[in-house]
Amino acid sequence: MNKTIYYFSGTGNSLKMAKDIRLALQDCEVVSISNAIMEVHKLKPKGIVGFVFPEYYYGLPQLVVEFLNTINLSHVTYIFAVATYAKSAGGCLSQTTKLLKPKGKKLNSGFYVKMVDNFILWTWDVPPIEKHSLIHEQAQKDSVRIANSVNNSLELIDNSPLETLGPILFGYSRFLRQVNTSDKAFFASPNCNSCEICVNVCPTQNIVIKDKKPKWQSKKCQKCLACLHLCPQKAVQYGKTTIKRSRYKNPHISLKELMLRL
Ligand SMILES: Cc1cc2nc3c(=O)[nH]c(=O)nc-3n(C[C@H](O)[C@H](O)[C@H](O)COP(=O)(O)O)c2cc1C
Ligand code: SF4
Ligand code: SF4
Repeated sequence: MNKTIYYFSGTGNSLKMAKDIRLALQDCEVVSISNAIMEVHKLKPKGIVGFVFPEYYYGLPQLVVEFLNTINLSHVTYIFAVATYAKSAGGCLSQTTKLLKPKGKKLNSGFYVKMVDNFILWTWDVPPIEKHSLIHEQAQKDSVRIANSVNNSLELIDNSPLETLGPILFGYSRFLRQVNTSDKAFFASPNCNSCEICVNVCPTQNIVIKDKKPKWQSKKCQKCLACLHLCPQKAVQYGKTTIKRSRYKNPHISLKELMLRL
C-alpha cells in the first residue's frame, strides 16, 4: 500500500474528510497522527502521502507541526494537505509548504474544505443544525475533487486571500506558544458521572481522572475541544462561555472512532 493519509481530528470533521478521500483514492491507509507521533521515528511512508487536519487560528494544530517536523518523507513522491475550516480559510497551506522545505519536499497539492464550526469559545455557537447537511454534502463532493487531483498527480494549491495575513492578524504564533497550557478554563460541572470519555478522546492524554472528576494537566493541550464537545453529559465547560452553547460531533464518525484514534 503506497498511499497513506495522516489525520488529526478533535470532533470528527477531519477524520471524515480523510475517510472520504480514502474511499475515492482506494488502496489507501488512514492513520491517526496522535497515535503515529508516538513512534514517528519508525515511520517511512512511500508513494503518496496526505495530511488532513483542522485549521486553528489560520494555522496547523501544534501536534501536526511536530509530526511534519519529525516524519521521514524521503521515500514519498507526492504530498497533499487538506485543512478543514469553518468560517475563513488561510495560512495552513503556506505553513505546510514551509515545514516541508527543510526536508527537500514540496506540497504538490493543497485544499481548504469548509466543514461545520466546532469553535465555540468566542462569541458564536455551532451553526444551526439545519445548515449542517448542506455543509456535509459539499465537503463530500470536495473529497472527490481532492482524490481526483491526487490520482492524477495534479499540482494544485487552493488560494486564500488570508494566506499570509490571517496567521499574523489572529496571533497564530502566540497560539502555538500558549496552546499546551490553554486548558486552564476547562472544568467539569456536577453533571459529570466519571465516565472517562473525555480522558479517552483526548489526543494527547492531557486529562486524568482524580477524585472522580477530570483534571486537565496543562501539559499537552491542543485546544481541539474534543473533551468539551464529546462529553455525553455536556459537563465539560470552558469558563462561562460554553454553558449555553451547543455541542458538535461529525455525525458520520462514531465516538468509538474518535476514542480509538484508528
Ligand atoms: C482552537 C480552534 C481554532 C479554530 N480556528 C479556526 C480558524 O482560524 N478558521 C476557521 O475557519 N475555523 C477555525 N476553527 C474551526 C475548525 O477548523 C473546524 O470546525 C474543523 O473542521 C474542525 O475539525 P475537527 O472536527 O476534525 O476537529 C477552529 C477550531 C478550533 C477548535
Ligand atoms: S466525559 Fe463528561 S461525564 Fe465523562 S468523565 Fe468526562 S466530564 Fe465527566
Ligand atoms: S484537553 Fe481537551 S482540548 Fe485539550 S487536547 Fe485534550 S481533548 Fe483536546
